[in-house]
Amino acid sequence: MNRRSLVQLVVVGASLSTVTQLHAEDINFEKQVLPVLEKKCMTCHREAHTDPEKGRLRKPKGDLRMDTPEDIVKAGESEKPAIVAGEPDKSEALARVLLPDDSDDFMPPKGDPLTKDEIEALKSWIQQGAKFGDWKGTKFTPAGEKLKE
Ligand code: HEC
Repeated sequence: MNRRSLVQLVVVGASLSTVTQLHAEDINFEKQVLPVLEKKCMTCHREAHTDPEKGRLRKPKGDLRMDTPEDIVKAGESEKPAIVAGEPDKSEALARVLLPDDSDDFMPPKGDPLTKDEIEALKSWIQQGAKFGDWKGTKFTPAGEKLKE
C-alpha cells in the first residue's frame, strides 16, 4: 500500500469512529439492558434449579428462560418469542413490561418494575437489532446469586 492510500484509510477510519460516537442513543446491551434483565427478570426466568430453602425444583416461569442468548429469543407457553430482533412490537418481553401494572400479565409480577429509562433502553436495543455482544449467558447459584464467569 502506498503512503497516500494509507493516509486516506486513516482519515476514513477516524471519521467513522466519530460518527459512531455521535450516535449517543446506541444501546450497549451489557451495560444498559443485561443488568436489568438479570436483576428483574432472571430470578424467575432462568435454568431450572432446586430451591435450596424449600428443596423444590423451580422451573422457568411461563416456560421461558431469559438467561442465555439462545433462550431469550424463544417463546414460552404463550408461543410468542420474548425478543424478536428489530421488532419491538413482536417482542413479548417488551409487551409485558408495557402493560398496565395491574394487568395479570404485567412483568415482573413481583419486585421492582422497570423504570421508564430501562424500558426505553430495552425497546431501543430491540430496534437496533438485539445484539448480545460478548454475552454468552448468565449463571446463578441455586440461591439466585450471579456467578462470575
Ligand atoms: C416473580 C417471578 C417473575 C419475574 C421476576 C418475571 N416474571 Fe415473567 N413470568 C412469570 C410467570 C409466573 C409467567 C407465566 C404466567 C404468564 O404468562 O403471565 C411469566 C411469563 C412471562 C412471559 C411470557 C412467556 C411465554 O411465552 O408464555 C414473558 C415474555 C415474561 N414473563 C417476561 C418477563 C420479563 C421481561 C421480566 C422482567 C422484566 C419478567 N418476566 C420477570 C414470572 C416472573
